Amino acid sequence: MFRPLLSSGLFWLCFGTASSQPRNFDVFDYIDPFIGTTAGGHVFPGATLPFGMAKAVADVNNPDEKQGGFASDNSDITGFSHMHDSGTGGSPSLGNFPFFPQTGCPEDNINNCYWTKTDRASRRINGTAEAHPGYFAVSLNTSIHTEVTVTNHTALYRLTFPSNVSTTIARNQTALPYSPLILFDLTDLPDSRTIGSIQVDPQSGRISGTGTFSPSFGIGSYDLHFCADFKGTSIRDTGVWRNNRAGSEPKNLSTRPDGVNNPPLPAGAWTQFTAPKNNQILTRVGVSFVSVAQACHNAEREIPDFDFQKVRSAAEDAWRKKFEVVKVDATGVSDEFHTVFWSGMYRSMISPQDYTGENPLWNSTEPYYDSYYCIWDSYRSIHPLITLLDPHSQTLMVRSLIDIYRHEGKLPDCRMSLCKGFTQGGSNADTVLADSYLKNITAGVDWRIGYEAVVSDAEVEPENWSVEGRGGLKSWKNLGYIPTDDYDPSGGGPFTRSISRTVEYAYNDFCIALMAKGLGNMADAEKYLKRSENWRNMYKADQTSLATNTTGHIGETVDTGYIGFLQPRYLNGTFGFQDPTLCSPLYNFTSCYLNPDGHETYEGSSWMYTFYVPQDMDSLITTLGGPENFTNRLSYLHTSGLLYIGDEQAFLPVFQFHYAGRPALSAEFSHFYIPSQFNTSLNGIAGNDDSGAMGSFTTLAMMGLWPVPGQNVYLITPPYFPSVSLTSPQTGKTATIRNVNFDPSYGAIYIQSVTLDGEMYTRNWITHDFWLEGGVLELTLGRNESEWGTGMGDLPPSSSTGM
Ligand SMILES: *[C@@H]1O[C@H](CO)[C@@H](O)[C@H](O)[C@H]1NC(C)=O
Ligand SMILES: *[C@@H]1O[C@H](CO)[C@@H](O)[C@H](O)[C@H]1NC(C)=O
Ligand SMILES: *[C@@H]1O[C@H](CO)[C@@H](O)[C@H](O)[C@H]1NC(C)=O
Ligand SMILES: *[C@@H]1O[C@H](CO)[C@@H](O)[C@H](O)[C@H]1NC(C)=O
Ligand SMILES: *[C@@H]1O[C@H](CO)[C@@H](O)[C@H](O)[C@H]1NC(C)=O
Ligand SMILES: *[C@@H]1O[C@H](CO)[C@@H](O)[C@H](O)[C@H]1NC(C)=O
Ligand SMILES: *[C@@H]1O[C@H](CO)[C@@H](O)[C@H](O)[C@H]1NC(C)=O
Ligand SMILES: *[C@@H]1O[C@H](CO)[C@@H](O)[C@H](O)[C@H]1NC(C)=O
Ligand SMILES: *[C@@H]1O[C@H](CO)[C@@H](O)[C@H](O)[C@H]1NC(C)=O
Ligand SMILES: *[C@@H]1O[C@H](CO)[C@@H](O)[C@H](O)[C@H]1NC(C)=O
Ligand SMILES: *[C@@H]1O[C@H](CO)[C@@H](O)[C@H](O)[C@H]1NC(C)=O
Ligand SMILES: *[C@@H]1O[C@H](CO)[C@@H](O)[C@H](O)[C@H]1NC(C)=O
Repeated sequence: MFRPLLSSGLFWLCFGTASSQPRNFDVFDYIDPFIGTTAGGHVFPGATLPFGMAKAVADVNNPDEKQGGFASDNSDITGFSHMHDSGTGGSPSLGNFPFFPQTGCPEDNINNCYWTKTDRASRRINGTAEAHPGYFAVSLNTSIHTEVTVTNHTALYRLTFPSNVSTTIARNQTALPYSPLILFDLTDLPDSRTIGSIQVDPQSGRISGTGTFSPSFGIGSYDLHFCADFKGTSIRDTGVWRNNRAGSEPKNLSTRPDGVNNPPLPAGAWTQFTAPKNNQILTRVGVSFVSVAQACHNAEREIPDFDFQKVRSAAEDAWRKKFEVVKVDATGVSDEFHTVFWSGMYRSMISPQDYTGENPLWNSTEPYYDSYYCIWDSYRSIHPLITLLDPHSQTLMVRSLIDIYRHEGKLPDCRMSLCKGFTQGGSNADTVLADSYLKNITAGVDWRIGYEAVVSDAEVEPENWSVEGRGGLKSWKNLGYIPTDDYDPSGGGPFTRSISRTVEYAYNDFCIALMAKGLGNMADAEKYLKRSENWRNMYKADQTSLATNTTGHIGETVDTGYIGFLQPRYLNGTFGFQDPTLCSPLYNFTSCYLNPDGHETYEGSSWMYTFYVPQDMDSLITTLGGPENFTNRLSYLHTSGLLYIGDEQAFLPVFQFHYAGRPALSAEFSHFYIPSQFNTSLNGIAGNDDSGAMGSFTTLAMMGLWPVPGQNVYLITPPYFPSVSLTSPQTGKTATIRNVNFDPSYGAIYIQSVTLDGEMYTRNWITHDFWLEGGVLELTLGRNESEWGTGMGDLPPSSSTGM
């Protein structure tokens, strides 16, 4: 495994900080990692580097909230572990090899210490949890205060034992001798370990081990390795433990499934210490997917001297560098909005995770990123935001996606822990690749293979399209839609979601057409452009929609008044029926998940999916009865309770008013959701964060230019600040969006006129060149909707009007 030196390194220059930020501004004052750590947000609030592999935090035992390890609730803490995913909706992810420290064992008998997760689970002390980029800390009722910081593959914990230890008491009030014990557990958050082994070195106290675990939203299994060293005092004794018994011999053990205990019995190893003079013990844990030796090597190389403050400063510097490219003038803006903005940006750079040099599946000199969890969520806003803030990382991600195609035969739609994750709709890596292709993500990218990869999605059906590619390709090519009763002997997957798969496949094909055009392959461009019109084939023009009211006149069934929706369609060409409101918050909201009895739309209603024609909004608007009817319908989607902003398909409809010549309404609905659904409270996001998707939504919305993913198009709305600037890490040039007549109470959110570098600008959208070439986009705001951006020539491009 090699960490390649990037031949393109020369292009990625570092540029100095511009000076518009006030002198005393510290971005960390506006980053709260605890946002979204309760009520299903599943945010990981622990210590990590940007896109780092080591992600350390305290793990709680609340099964509904421990997806990201920690939760801001009253649940107990079972240990500290070194790898996590953030914001995910599957079962809890990673959290392997937790350790748990104890001040001593009652009566100095190791069997009186607490071993299993159940036995050792301890309350946190309220108010002690602290989190900043690169740092996390909490005190438990064991009176031990644990702090952690990280490098790329190593976590460094600083444990502070109670100084009044002679009076520390065990749970049953007997005196506790001061002889700290640290156990490691061969487990993970979802208790998925099958095979495992662990050993402890009696001289150094080093504990290392290996386990085989299951991914949290995918197939297969993965092996992970760790290596823990200690510093601060001398070793007193070492040993292993199984179930709730421990001994100092032997010094190693291994486990396999026994056929009866599921999950397998808890097991691990321990090291006991003499009392540390300064009451502190440092615990350094390296991780690796390759081997124990590499886990130890990672730890020794990255943190040779156990210098906590030095590691923490390096982590902080790494984060500050990422934020430095953006400057806001926040005059008059509340701390609340300011914090939502930077915290969302922070969460957008937690994943995907850089596992370069850690991929045991194939040998390659290309980068390897993982935790694309999932692209169905991240293509809409996370990757477009990373492309702006950190195009170098986006380039490495694109290269890694293409390398996954090279070695596994398909691009992933979801991937975690070296395993294939479940596909939710289309093959949306196609959209990520097109987005990057159009935005000058070029350094070291083999776009010939990249194009081959997206064409493979469009043309070659895999045997198991539950985890890659697309199903129903024969029907897709012959009939132009995914029949609800499809006959598909070529491959298997969940035969549900025929409507949402159809509209996503159509958009994926459109993105392929854009790439084909860019690569000069006009025949393909034409072919895929044609296929991008397939959304029409599931549109049933005379379909009406009744809705049951859940807000005003509760229970009352009303005719929504809108006609024409996407509907199930059979092989024989006739339409079936799915209530257009099914799986909206108004009707059986949770009936469209990824399970065998799901319906024809995925995690949302036909009402919502009927708007998913990003390639040709002009035709959609005509189909739905013209701009006025379209605008009314889209407003109704937002105000009737039919749309849940906590799922990513809801993002684009906030801004689609632009296509009907009503950019003012996009601004209005952006403010409708922010801050009502997004704020700085612990449950301050809607839905799961999904690796930062909700964070990227708020940050991009507040920056004022909403990216249409897969296109070189940003829809213009006013930033939530007097001004926002981005210095392109690619070109070193600065693009500034400035509001004139900025109103911090957000009454004046309507654009009256715009200039770009002093010239009148009437189009309601702009291309990526603005970010690359720099310049000043000046928006003059007022309290009422204006004529700006409403003319036919001002609208964003649609395929039917020639893109
Ligand atoms: C700690 O905070 C939780 C809420 O997170 C609360 O339920 C609990 O009562 C508090 N405990 C103490 C000891 O104050
Ligand atoms: C306290 O608990 C330990 C086990 O944790 C037990 O060995 C000891 O006998 C108990 N002491 C008393 C006084 O109950
Ligand atoms: C710490 O918390 C655990 C779990 O709630 C509880 O069982 C234990 O008694 C507490 N210990 C002390 C010293 O309060
Ligand atoms: C972490 O890894 C990245 C990518 O290899 C590298 O650029 C960065 O310098 C590393 N960070 C630290 C703090 O070592
Ligand atoms: C030990 O000191 C800590 C911090 O001063 C205090 O919170 C705790 O109650 C003390 N514990 C005992 C058993 O006295
Ligand atoms: C423990 O380590 C020894 C020496 O490396 C090895 O022979 C033995 O198989 C190991 N035992 C277990 C249970 O893994
Ligand atoms: C990678 O290369 C090494 C050294 O040549 C070899 O030992 C290893 O088996 C290769 N791994 C894979 C997955 O091909
Ligand atoms: C596109 O990126 C390359 C480096 O990858 C750079 O040399 C070039 O200037 C960029 N083009 C623009 C328009 O910024
Ligand atoms: C429900 O009733 C309220 C108040 O009468 C109304 O504003 C809302 O649009 C209605 N919702 C639907 C789905 O008709
Ligand atoms: C078409 O197929 C559907 C589903 O099998 C069936 O219910 C319907 O009757 C068929 N229609 C015609 C006209 O054959
Ligand atoms: C809606 O949910 C109810 C209750 O779970 C169930 O009985 C019904 O079949 C569902 N309807 C549909 C169309 O899924
Ligand atoms: C547009 O809306 C009006 C008023 O609701 C309705 O009468 C008309 O039929 C709609 N037009 C189309 C083409 O749907």
